[in-house]
Amino acid sequence: MPKKTPKPTLSITFIHNDQREETIEALEEMSIMQAAKYAKITEIDGTCGGCMACATCHIYIPEEWKNRVENEDNEKTPEECDILETAPNANKNSRLGCQIRLTQALDGLRVIIPPNDI
Ligand code: FES
Repeated sequence: MPKKTPKPTLSITFIHNDQREETIEALEEMSIMQAAKYAKITEIDGTCGGCMACATCHIYIPEEWKNRVENEDNEKTPEECDILETAPNANKNSRLGCQIRLTQALDGLRVIIPPNDI
């Protein structure tokens, strides 16, 4: 029986509202939402499972990472923009974590968790 090659891992750092930083390991091809749920980042609910119906995976991508995220085939679609309009505290750095696939080029990515007040 052939040996399975483990998927490569990468790290992502989540910045909580109290500025606490939490770095997790994620598998390549996971979405940020899946990686957050796997690592029990409780602020990321991902209620709809990634079908762009809830916005509970709302995150901010810091300015310095935006181009790299989009260059990895993670452009913001009109549908994502529509859902983000329903997210509390959405701004120009807002993204849905379920719509960003992780690749090695995103190793070291920093993600800001939005405040949950409305
Ligand atoms: S998990 Fe529901 S919109 Fe991302």
